[in-house]
Amino acid sequence: MLVQTPPMGFNTWNTFGGNIDAQMIRETADAMVDRGFLAAGYNYLVIDDCWSERQRDPVTGKIVPDKTRFPDGMKAVSDYVHSRGLKFGMYSCAGVRTCADFPGSFDHEFLDAETFAEYGVDFLKYDFCNVPPHVNGPALYRRMGLALKASGRDILFSACNWGCDDVGRWIRSAGAHMYRSTGDIFDNFKSFTDIALSQLGNLCYSAPGCFNDTDMLTVGMYGKGNVGTSGCNDTDYRTQFVLWCLFNAPLMMGCDIRTVSEESRKLLLNPDLIAIDQDPEARPAFEVMTGWRREHHILMKHLSNNEYALAFFNMAEEDGSIPVHTYSIGLPATGYAIQLRDIFTGEDVGTFHDFFETEVKAHDVKLYRMKIVKD
Ligand code: GAL
Repeated sequence: MLVQTPPMGFNTWNTFGGNIDAQMIRETADAMVDRGFLAAGYNYLVIDDCWSERQRDPVTGKIVPDKTRFPDGMKAVSDYVHSRGLKFGMYSCAGVRTCADFPGSFDHEFLDAETFAEYGVDFLKYDFCNVPPHVNGPALYRRMGLALKASGRDILFSACNWGCDDVGRWIRSAGAHMYRSTGDIFDNFKSFTDIALSQLGNLCYSAPGCFNDTDMLTVGMYGKGNVGTSGCNDTDYRTQFVLWCLFNAPLMMGCDIRTVSEESRKLLLNPDLIAIDQDPEARPAFEVMTGWRREHHILMKHLSNNEYALAFFNMAEEDGSIPVHTYSIGLPATGYAIQLRDIFTGEDVGTFHDFFETEVKAHDVKLYRMKIVKD
């Protein structure tokens, strides 16, 4: 299975944690279609941890869906999700138990992969809690990679070992299509900026076939739900979404999309931002220069069509002005200039020969599509 662009969808964990059932999954599937998310590319609906009974079936050894919360079983849920034109994702863990203490797939990999295929699963998130200490982590991901292939169904393999064992160096060899390389996100500014900045040096490991996952988005949560914490405002969410798009990160929504605010919905559906995330060349963003302040960052990314994304982040608590010299971008002293179009306002900002400076509010970002022109 070739995954050409970063996967997009919704995952239950950030908002719902263990509070999941068939009804909310059906409602979420409806919201993904009716509120325009599927049309924008968000096609995977993924159930995270806490979907099963506490113990496997003693006779078959299979994991059993929670009988109260999924009374008609998982195939019925999967059929509904598919009937809405979406793909269906589920969760398991390489350890003996999942992080929330439900049965894990350790030593049951092939049986579980077959079970997921029977449900009609198209995506498996594979976590890393409760792995016995003597066991080799990469071998467990490689084993599940084989089990999924042997299941007879095309199942996107989403690894989640939080960056252990230098994951970027071997996870492709395990057959994964996306992989987490950090600890969990929480819904506050520090959490997502720490994650993003920690990944700048790892973006070289993210490319078509297998993308580095900076975790599910908290956009639209406003502090509510399972990873709610202090919450973010719309400015923070804009910064988060731009970072994820510049990183070619999978865009997995984590808010309650049935009730998401109009502002967050517009951000999540912004076609210019999604186009940057899904750019077919999938080039990693890089830091042009560290700003004059430690909290100012200028990131750039090559796009197809000879264009570039150029972003100015102000991660400080005060508004500020962020300058860049065109020689820092790589231009010669004379003969070439940059042309900028503001992605949020659509405004052509102008042509700049050797220097450009922009005001950026605290926690905010300015994002431009850039062309290089002869002067
Ligand atoms: C964590 C994982 C989270 C979520 C949680 C479920 O290890 O990073 O994204 O899946 O487990 O218990």
